[in-house]
Amino acid sequence: MIDALVLDETRGGQVAEVRSLAPDALPDGNVRVAVAYSSLNYKDALAITGEGKIIRGEFPFVPGIDLVGQVEASETGAFAPGDWVIQTGWGLGEHRWGGYAQQMQLQAKHLVPLPDAMTPREAMIVGTAGFTAMLAVMALEDHDTAPDGGEIVVTGASGGAGSMAVALLGALGYRVVASTSNDAAHDDLRDLGAARIIDRGELDGGPERPMQSARWAGAVDAVGGATLASIIAALDRHASVAAFGNAGGHELHTSVFPFILRGVNLLGIDSNTCPNERRRVAWQRLADTLTAAHYERVLNRVISLNELAGAARSLLRGNIQGRVVVDVNA
Ligand SMILES: NC(=O)c1ccc[n+]([C@@H]2O[C@H](COP(=O)([O-])OP(=O)(O)OC[C@H]3O[C@@H](n4cnc5c(N)ncnc54)[C@H](OP(=O)(O)O)[C@@H]3O)[C@@H](O)[C@H]2O)c1
Repeated sequence: MIDALVLDETRGGQVAEVRSLAPDALPDGNVRVAVAYSSLNYKDALAITGEGKIIRGEFPFVPGIDLVGQVEASETGAFAPGDWVIQTGWGLGEHRWGGYAQQMQLQAKHLVPLPDAMTPREAMIVGTAGFTAMLAVMALEDHDTAPDGGEIVVTGASGGAGSMAVALLGALGYRVVASTSNDAAHDDLRDLGAARIIDRGELDGGPERPMQSARWAGAVDAVGGATLASIIAALDRHASVAAFGNAGGHELHTSVFPFILRGVNLLGIDSNTCPNERRRVAWQRLADTLTAAHYERVLNRVISLNELAGAARSLLRGNIQGRVVVDVNA
């Protein structure tokens, strides 16, 4: 039998409970993976609590947008039994059953190999949050952002994706400004690589004018809304913001002036549908850039399937700093 966190609908609403499933209850897939770890992301917390419409499949449903595990059986030549693989995105934990189970059946085309220099546990400290942060860094690099250009601001810096962005940019030699509301996170953010910390109140009211004094050589934004509008208004000429989040709001009120008078770039990041070739590059770069010290500093804690529901509520209340890893066999 396979232990899994199962979401189900009852008359009273959605319930989340750990159940034992028969192996034939798993969805179809051409690779069967013994899952080692998953993780808890903002999206997972919305799914588990039912506070956001994340699940697009039928109930009962196994959530979890990340997993790492070892191939048990493969119907394709792409992977062999014993290979370690990662899946994030491609609808995992949204359309298709996800990582909160001890085994899962998956599609080979959605999997990437675990890089040699990364352990399974480290891969889930990274998870969708760190993978998305790496995609944001790569997008900035593709648009000529360089470490010697000036300050790069990271918003939502104490969150999972934000703290990974601080770590990556810091390790790559950028001067990182971490924007956060979380006073208790300042020391960790400095240790991770932030040169300077600002209170998120400096950005979350929106810009006073469509264009303000240029402050930022680049930005990684996990927050959206008025925060993103503030950043766009204060980017240097031809600088870019890589935006992936809406933790602070999904609407964006801005003007065309920063785009047509300063040539700034708004770079959208969607980790879910990122092509597999770019995924492999991003995971290899994560393995090459992050050190054991980064992983341990970003890790908040490792929890079991039974602890997921409580941790999801804490995350949505803003009480979790950094990354939560789920040991599905604990
Ligand atoms: N597009 C993609 O592919 C993709 C992938 C991953 C995540 N995301 C999105 O990115 C965002 C961050 O994800 P995550 O997993 O890192 O979440 P998380 O761990 O909950 O972090 C979010 C952070 O945003 C800040 N924040 C929260 N509420 C806010 C508010 N009302 N106003 C301003 N800042 C607020 C907080 O940071 P401080 O306390 O430090 O200010 C919080 O720690 C989410 O919106 C998530 O859905 C998108």
